[in-house]
Amino acid sequence: MAIPELPKEYDQLDQWKTLMFLYSSALQEVQTRINILSDEFHHINHYNPIEHVKARIKTPESIVKKLKRLGFEATIDNMYRELHDIAGVRIICSFTSDIYYLADAISRQNDVNVLMVKDYIANPKPNGYRSYHMVISVPIYLSSGQVEMKVEIQIRTIAMDFWASLEHKIHYKFEGAAPSHMRENLKECADMVALLDERMMALNESLQEAGEPEDD
Ligand code: GTP
Ligand code: MG
Repeated sequence: MAIPELPKEYDQLDQWKTLMFLYSSALQEVQTRINILSDEFHHINHYNPIEHVKARIKTPESIVKKLKRLGFEATIDNMYRELHDIAGVRIICSFTSDIYYLADAISRQNDVNVLMVKDYIANPKPNGYRSYHMVISVPIYLSSGQVEMKVEIQIRTIAMDFWASLEHKIHYKFEGAAPSHMRENLKECADMVALLDERMMALNESLQEAGEPEDD
């Protein structure tokens, strides 16, 4: 069996379906944890730190394409070992501080392993892209054992998400070679997004300090 630590009865099953089942279980697991953290945050701070959460499993086409791009054969074993974004969750937050709060709360869970962190908020990409990326692994408890599954988590504000959606469309439209005036324009917008996020966060902090009505 390519995937390590699976219970013996899995030997007889279709490996692709097994792997997809495991990734979809990992997504459920991570989404539940995020929902609980969000509810708890609301309970304490009386505002919702999360605007929405999107979860997706990479398509077979895009899995094969990425393995080839990385120079690996398209095998179940390579999928499990080499790809870290087959299961992906994107969390859209209200404020930049909420991003770090959630990233920290997820990372500190006892059974979560943080495999990779890319803080494109502290270190934006040259094109202006800002987001917080983490690859974690979580245990999935099966009937007679457990298996570690990787999930990529991207956390960003509404404004960062707005920017990234348009940048993504432009990137694809021009196959990665957008005209320089558009790239410069995007970079300027990214700087405006950063300023907006900063000011909105400061306003929210003032609101929090002023205290809020009991029920909202
Ligand atoms: P991929 O091979 O694309 O998965 O990138 P990577 O393995 O180098 O990882 P990275 O953490 O840099 O990016 C992972 C994902 O973040 C991408 O698949 C995109 O969804 C998103 N992302 C990264 N950079 C950009 C960017 O410049 N613009 C936009 N719109 N999204 C980005
Ligand atoms: Mg990716």
